[in-house]
Amino acid sequence: MRYNVVKNASSILDTSDILIKNPENYKGKWKEVFKNNNPICLELGMGRGAFIVQMAKAHPNINYIGLELDRSQTATAISNVKGKIDNLKFICADAKDIVNYFNKEIKTIYLTFSEPWPKKGDEKKRFTHENYLRVYDRVFRKQKHIILKTDNKILFQSALESMSNYWYVFKKVSLDLHNDERNIENYMTDFEKQYYKEHRQIYYVEAVFDE
Ligand SMILES: C[S@@+](CC[C@H](N)C(=O)[O-])C[C@H]1O[C@@H](n2cnc3c(N)ncnc32)[C@H](O)[C@@H]1O
Repeated sequence: MRYNVVKNASSILDTSDILIKNPENYKGKWKEVFKNNNPICLELGMGRGAFIVQMAKAHPNINYIGLELDRSQTATAISNVKGKIDNLKFICADAKDIVNYFNKEIKTIYLTFSEPWPKKGDEKKRFTHENYLRVYDRVFRKQKHIILKTDNKILFQSALESMSNYWYVFKKVSLDLHNDERNIENYMTDFEKQYYKEHRQIYYVEAVFDE
């Protein structure tokens, strides 16, 4: 799938209420942003935001934050939000910096169709590399909870290995999410919608770690 370039991305970002412009100012204070004590879930690499928008609408008593590095993707996600969704915010930033934005405040991290980084030597860039799992330790509340979806078998295998080496336990695993007979809640991301049309196999894992 191609990434779109949004020419007026800067003005969309600058004038958006849903985008938190200085997320470092809210470290440890996100309940002030949402004006409630509800749990907060974070999607890393939300792209155009289809997944997190649907999740926020489906679960009004949970707060959602979509984080995306690319300004055009973030601008598109902002434009895709129709009406006011009080339990949804966006951050335009690099996932590797989330320790600057959160302090033991996150309930669940969603990793949706993250870049697979297949080349040798690029493993450290994967969102489930041990270095990232260490970062997540600092933003999760007591329980660590990761939900990952991907169409990439190599990424999936490496994610399972990495999380398992890090003592995560797998609560739910599916090797074919769209044809799974169990009732796994699923809202499709933008990439996933395309893969669904192509009948591509989607891998899913819900991983937890309790102190
Ligand atoms: C393959 S796309 C998937 C987008 C979306 N999750 C979906 O499934 O439609 C991966 C997204 O992750 C973003 N991304 C890659 N590295 C990132 C990073 N270090 N921090 C934040 N976002 C990142 C990319 O800009 C891209 O939008």
